[in-house]
Amino acid sequence: MARVLIASAPEFDLGELIRTALALDCEELDESESLLAEDAQAPAQGASAMPLTAQGAGAVLPPAAHAGEEKLQSRKNLRRSSKRKREKAEQGRKVRPEAALKYIPKAPILESVAEIVHLPVTSCGYQGLNEGKGHLEETYTVEELLKLGFTEIEWDGVTPQVIVAGQAEKFMIVMSGRPLDPTYQECQARAAQKILQAGEAAGFLPEELDHPRASNSAALNHGIFHGQGTPHPLNLSNGCRTQLLEELCSDPDVCRMAEFADASFKTWSPEVYEEIQRKLEKLYARDPSLSKPFPFSVYPCTAFNFGPQVCCKGHRDSSNYAISWCAIQALGQFNPRRGGHLVIKELKVFIQFPAGSTILIPSALLTHGNTPVEDGEVRLSFTQFCPGGLIRWVDNNFQTQARMQQRLSKKAFLDKMKLKEMRWERGLEKIYMLDRLKNKYMPPEEVLVTAPCAC
Ligand SMILES: [Fe+2]
Repeated sequence: MARVLIASAPEFDLGELIRTALALDCEELDESESLLAEDAQAPAQGASAMPLTAQGAGAVLPPAAHAGEEKLQSRKNLRRSSKRKREKAEQGRKVRPEAALKYIPKAPILESVAEIVHLPVTSCGYQGLNEGKGHLEETYTVEELLKLGFTEIEWDGVTPQVIVAGQAEKFMIVMSGRPLDPTYQECQARAAQKILQAGEAAGFLPEELDHPRASNSAALNHGIFHGQGTPHPLNLSNGCRTQLLEELCSDPDVCRMAEFADASFKTWSPEVYEEIQRKLEKLYARDPSLSKPFPFSVYPCTAFNFGPQVCCKGHRDSSNYAISWCAIQALGQFNPRRGGHLVIKELKVFIQFPAGSTILIPSALLTHGNTPVEDGEVRLSFTQFCPGGLIRWVDNNFQTQARMQQRLSKKAFLDKMKLKEMRWERGLEKIYMLDRLKNKYMPPEEVLVTAPCAC
């Protein structure tokens, strides 16, 4: 079996990684993490529905010496937590440079032959090309992929790894992992259980279970969307499923995972993150009725795959913002060496993708799917993404291109169109490579400056 082995860098220090992983996950979260633990003390409803071990996270709380002190401390924590949550919702998560530096690997796990610049993007650069194809086979077992010449990438699901595009060495895929904090996996197990139970309670219809992306697994999108078929940005309507989705998005365990995905995006692609944040803030100021699923996350849209054995067929999410990354999180209880891999057609790889881990991919540009898990196992997934139509709407000064053409002078309109022609190349400049990202987080006095060539 052809494999790409994960070789840790010589300087790799597991203990340090654990500490920094915890630091990033818990940064700015100390109080809210405690609150989450308190919230989670109540036993999950129907906890026996699947064989996930969801232990009460109350066990991580230190015992209080006196009931009065405990109450006082609890009120203080609650106030601080609320304040911190408001600040986080307004400012987004801060990335600590020293923590980020510990995450960045010395070398990519794989250099792809494919170059980002050649991936199928629309001429205006906002979305992926919708070619009406891009599907692989119906299902892709590990054995079938190996026969097709795909390479399996082994991954522990924790250690951050990157796949870079050939010559440009820009990040193509970021396997951002997960915090090593054991309570995070407990949180993942509870989140999986809640998503599974929500799906069971929903009683999805056969037409909801079978759709172009997957068979026998319902999927729902929730949040703000603008693209083909919508006159302007709007909150997606899910009718009788709305309450279910809102409850999932306010669940502390789902929120903790969503926060990690958001922090991952911010850490690994800070300039694209900042652009999306800045432009969407303008959109929300213009239309306060728009409501994103997670107030603390930059992503305006999320999708839940309810399983119980999600196995997505190969597809591209062409309406997503081309230079942005979709954050995919796997959940459940399955053997990641046997199934649940993330398949990337253009790179001819399939990546082991353990439950609780996060992978960031340009989902508009790369054809992606999964391998099936074994009988009796549970695999769900949960993604966050940014529709490219939202960014285009803001760039068009909150109107369609046709409307903009009517309102602007011919010269002003042509100038706008010229900007769009350059949008993709300019966007690519915001995608980082390893050295550039390290330099970004290094203290100024340690940044490596390459001397210009004298010849
Ligand atoms: Fe997708």
